Amino acid sequence: MAASSSCVLAAAALLLLLAGSSSSAAAAAGQQKETRMRVYWHDVVTGPNSTVAKVAEAPTSRASSTVFGTVYVIDDPLTDGPNLTSSRLVGRAQGMYVSAGKESMSLLMAMSFVFAGDGPYNGSSVAVFGPNPARPVREIPVVGGTGVFRFARGYCLATTYWYNSAGDATVQYDIHLHHE
Ligand SMILES: *[C@@H]1O[C@H](CO)[C@@H](O)[C@H](O)[C@H]1NC(C)=O
Ligand SMILES: *[C@@H]1O[C@H](CO)[C@@H](O)[C@H](O)[C@H]1NC(C)=O
Ligand SMILES: *[C@@H]1O[C@H](CO)[C@@H](O)[C@H](O)[C@H]1NC(C)=O
Repeated sequence: MAASSSCVLAAAALLLLLAGSSSSAAAAAGQQKETRMRVYWHDVVTGPNSTVAKVAEAPTSRASSTVFGTVYVIDDPLTDGPNLTSSRLVGRAQGMYVSAGKESMSLLMAMSFVFAGDGPYNGSSVAVFGPNPARPVREIPVVGGTGVFRFARGYCLATTYWYNSAGDATVQYDIHLHHE
């Protein structure tokens, strides 16, 4: 008798615990925020202040029309406008891209957008990871974040704004996030 009533109490306590955890999960889901922002990503290949380092290639990369197998590490400035000189620096894109398309040009992007400056995002980051094929608008997933962007998920729409024959490029990233 004593044993079975303590079992009932334990079951009731467990139900309360489960109810408590599911309602706090619902409350957390209700508090989810949405952020949209536009940044310009500057890949500076030429000049003394290059922000791109080619770190590896396959023996066959140079013969490949898509430089398949080449790995580049980047520390690219992110600005709030398209002009690297006159726009405000809002952070840096740190990470790498890999030429991962054998038949057609496609990069795999793996980078953190690390925000800086005097805005609310200073010190926070988002993890951008996914394919960047040769097409006008590329959709790249955001797979996580830190700081104000904890639990971030979302996507970027990347559009090339400007490039030159040396490979310097400015790409517009329209970022759409859900986060905690
Ligand atoms: C390179 O960076 C240094 C230090 O920030 C700066 O003084 C210099 O003007 C830059 N050079 C070019 C060509 O942008
Ligand atoms: C970027 O801004 C600088 C400084 O204001 C200016 O000299 C330059 O012409 C601008 N570049 C473009 C492409 O608009
Ligand atoms: C950004 O955050 C860092 C680290 O917390 C701090 O040292 C720095 O002063 C902040 N920058 C601005 C412009 O507020």
